[in-house]
Amino acid sequence: MNILGIESSCDDTAASVLNETGVLSNIIASQSIHIQYGGVVPELASRAHQRNISQTVEQALSEAQLGIQDIDLIAATQGPGLMGSLLVGLSFAKGVSLAHQIPLVGVNHMDAHIFANTIEHKLEFPLIALTVSGGHTQLSKLSDPYSLEIIGQTRDDAAGEAFDKIGKLLGLNYPAGPKIDVLSREGNPLFHEFPKGLIQEGLDFSFSGLKTSVLYYLQNKKNALITQYLNDICASVSHAITEVLVTKLERAMQAHSIPRAVLAGGVSANTMLREKAAEMAEKNKFTIYKPSFSYCTDNAAMIAATARIMLQNEPSISHMQRLKEGFGIHPYSVQPD
Ligand code: KG4
Ligand code: ZN
Repeated sequence: MNILGIESSCDDTAASVLNETGVLSNIIASQSIHIQYGGVVPELASRAHQRNISQTVEQALSEAQLGIQDIDLIAATQGPGLMGSLLVGLSFAKGVSLAHQIPLVGVNHMDAHIFANTIEHKLEFPLIALTVSGGHTQLSKLSDPYSLEIIGQTRDDAAGEAFDKIGKLLGLNYPAGPKIDVLSREGNPLFHEFPKGLIQEGLDFSFSGLKTSVLYYLQNKKNALITQYLNDICASVSHAITEVLVTKLERAMQAHSIPRAVLAGGVSANTMLREKAAEMAEKNKFTIYKPSFSYCTDNAAMIAATARIMLQNEPSISHMQRLKEGFGIHPYSVQPD
């Protein structure tokens, strides 16, 4: 079964084709226009999606060496995300669905980050998910693929947002997360101790205090000094963020007696986070799955992979039978969240 995934929740226009043999194509058109504004401008994002969507989908089909007639199911991001951006991808998907009589499903973007892990791993349940992106920081418990319970989340900024906003203070372009990651590799994580919000208690997160603390720290420093110690400052910030993330993940796994977890979302590409999570897993004899880098940040293969999981929801009905019945979904019934 060939699934066409379409993702347009933020500033990446993405399309992918996936079937039982694996990911046949995974195309991402990123929008550089936002760099000059230091963050995503929603109106510009939807206009860029509008420009990119047709050719991105066409490219995904051609790289998969398939035509639209070979597609059995279309999966498009339903939310959460920027409304104007979501509408471009979803409306495009509805149009293709109606014109070619292909069933369409709407996929939750946060679920998709978690199920990105199914592209390369066979997941066992129950498991804990640490989902860390630009808009979300969540710990969830999945008893099975279809029941997700949020057991912890950020009370203010998301981890990716913290990386991006602190990067802006340091003069780094948006998105600053990957740049801080690279700079941190040559720095000393113990150079300066930044606050690790709520590390002592519970499963919720808080990163706004860290952001303010970096702001005050930089206010008293000359630019030349900041440049000189940029690697060390970045490493210390990365240390503060990742230490909290991994401590909470460990606490969640221990408290719920679940020895398996997945890392998910853009920040799961972070080197220090991946290393610390691996160390924590080894110490506790836990298993922690993580996606390859191309499936951490926003992509459409994760949307298609999630649709595949949704389709398996009722094992008594065969996949093809569900598809013939339209998967219970009329194109117009899929609305943005
Ligand atoms: O999942 P994602 O692509 O989009 C959202 O759903 O938000 O995540 C984007 C976020 C951005 O904040 C970006 O700075 C961060 O993920 N990010 C990273 C890294 N790669 C992406 N943060 C830290 N280290 C990275 N290597
Ligand atoms: Zn995302």
